[in-house]
Amino acid sequence: MTAVPDQLADSLCYLNGEFLAVRDARVSVLDRGFLFGDGIYEALPVYGRRLFRFDEHMARLNRGLSKIRIANPFTEAQWLAHCRKLVAAHESDDQAIYLQVTRGVAPRNHVMPTDISPTVFMMSNPLLPPAPEQRHKGVSCITARDFRWEHGDLKSISLLGNVLARQMSADRGAVETILIRDGYLTEASSSNVWVVHEGAVLGPPKSEHLLEGVRYELMRELCEEEGIAFNLRPVPEAEVLAADELMLSSASKEVLPVTLLDGEPVGHGALRGKPGPVYARLFEAYQRAKLSQSI
Ligand SMILES: Cc1ncc(COP(=O)(O)O)c(C=O)c1O
Repeated sequence: MTAVPDQLADSLCYLNGEFLAVRDARVSVLDRGFLFGDGIYEALPVYGRRLFRFDEHMARLNRGLSKIRIANPFTEAQWLAHCRKLVAAHESDDQAIYLQVTRGVAPRNHVMPTDISPTVFMMSNPLLPPAPEQRHKGVSCITARDFRWEHGDLKSISLLGNVLARQMSADRGAVETILIRDGYLTEASSSNVWVVHEGAVLGPPKSEHLLEGVRYELMRELCEEEGIAFNLRPVPEAEVLAADELMLSSASKEVLPVTLLDGEPVGHGALRGKPGPVYARLFEAYQRAKLSQSI
């Protein structure tokens, strides 16, 4: 058995009404999260002990829970209080809160039971931002066919498709797998993907094929602030491969430049294979947003 590092095992988590050490937290083997992957999760970044875009994470949690017919067990104020308690108990100023709500414990049956309480689990870990070298040089990604299901808009704890997709890039020493469905960009295994084309930032429209990252609207706002054109429209694979710049966004990556795709340098001319100017502006704007939009 892989040992859980002591530091993690000792750290405080929340499970079904109790705050306790991770090593003491126990969930039933009949939990539908364990048996079916029947639940929704969120991952929220914390900067200087303050939660970034908390309302947007809560709105996405609400949308996901209502789509899979689980009643949200808490009000937003209760979620916030629990998050704050976890943040206060951890050493790092910058943290990543993970929370998940599963349908709960019941005899195994695909049909949704109606009379059970959801299982709620929350923990916080040190936030692991991209290494400085990744920021300065950009990262390598691969492309692959998007073979996942048609509810990519749910932040489902059933992540097998995403795990398989991510492993394809891990096996090749790359940081993400950029997914293409029927010739068009969807997203990456755990990030959204942005293409810079003639100075404009392009992203796929929101749909059931991809998770609307909390950074989706943030990218729009940052582009607006910076006077960069922002356009959500179908992005053909050929445009991804011919991008002037390519970027990933997620809670932990913030915005991160992709400079190598399927082994080929991204971009053109002098900037080929290097992080580009649009990335640089969005990165700076993102750092300002962290200061002004954390509570
Ligand atoms: C599949 C997928 N797409 C996109 C994202 C980016 O979402 P966010 O910006 O909310 O972190 C994630 C984040 O984990 C993800 O798992």
